[in-house]
Amino acid sequence: MSSIENTQYHGPFLPTVGHTKESLEYAKNFSVKDSDVFVVTYPKSGTIWMQEILPLVLSGGDLTPIQSTVNWDRVPWLEETRLANVVDKMTSPRAMVSHFPYNLMPSSFHSSKAKVIYVMRNPKDVAVSSFYFHQMASFLEDPGTFDEFLDKFLEGKVLFGKWTDHVSSWKLAKLGDRILFLTYEEMVQDLGAAIRRMSDFLCLDLSEDVIQKIAEHCTFKSMKANTMSNFSLVSKEYMDIDKSPFLRKGVAGDWKNHFNSEQEARFTSVIQKELEAAGLSFPFN
Ligand code: A3P
Repeated sequence: MSSIENTQYHGPFLPTVGHTKESLEYAKNFSVKDSDVFVVTYPKSGTIWMQEILPLVLSGGDLTPIQSTVNWDRVPWLEETRLANVVDKMTSPRAMVSHFPYNLMPSSFHSSKAKVIYVMRNPKDVAVSSFYFHQMASFLEDPGTFDEFLDKFLEGKVLFGKWTDHVSSWKLAKLGDRILFLTYEEMVQDLGAAIRRMSDFLCLDLSEDVIQKIAEHCTFKSMKANTMSNFSLVSKEYMDIDKSPFLRKGVAGDWKNHFNSEQEARFTSVIQKELEAAGLSFPFN
């Protein structure tokens, strides 16, 4: 296993690329506005997909943001270095993404009315997607074999820690109508319906035509062809899309092509036990 530098930040590991002492301090002291909208995800659950959808939802279907601005500046990560560079250019309502568990959100978030869209994905597919991501991202440790990687994933020795801790932190947060829970799977199944839920949640009342237009521009195929969203502008030194593209398969259930029955049983049992201990049930097959 290669020795890659990580930042350990109040528990979970974060890659040093993009996450510096300054950026984490900046996030901690970030002044959240009531009109801000955060998309929160455990990595590999559909973050960049939401960086495509949310700006279109907020702009009422105007394609300018996704055609003119790279995703990491369009909907910046709260915890990453880019936010400080672009924050002055962001207009309200500001859209941001974050991989933070609930307890790492800035204190101003807790006293604000800012909204959160939390996207959850079947952890078996998250593990598969993450396995390939660890192969292509030079700033992450080599994942080893898939079996070895599954152990690391279950132990939380991967970026942003344990999936169960992340999900429980947000599921148990008492945010009332400030939070919308979406699943990657429902987005795959019917993106229009998921966009309708977002529109209602954000009180935007988008027309069916606009919703369909947004859904068409946010398909896996459209995003793969969009240089502002497919990470082809990132140096191969950081992300080698020849090893595995960032937009890899974009389906639900690819875990069936990777897990054997023993791995599936072990994985599900650990995840189920941890969720049950937190008083939650496992919502995926
Ligand atoms: P796969 O590796 O399973 O293909 P994140 O942005 O949180 O890192 O998540 C990346 C995952 O979201 C990848 O999953 C990627 O292909 C998938 N994804 C991104 N855009 C998508 C889209 N438009 N439709 C379906 N899946 C998408």
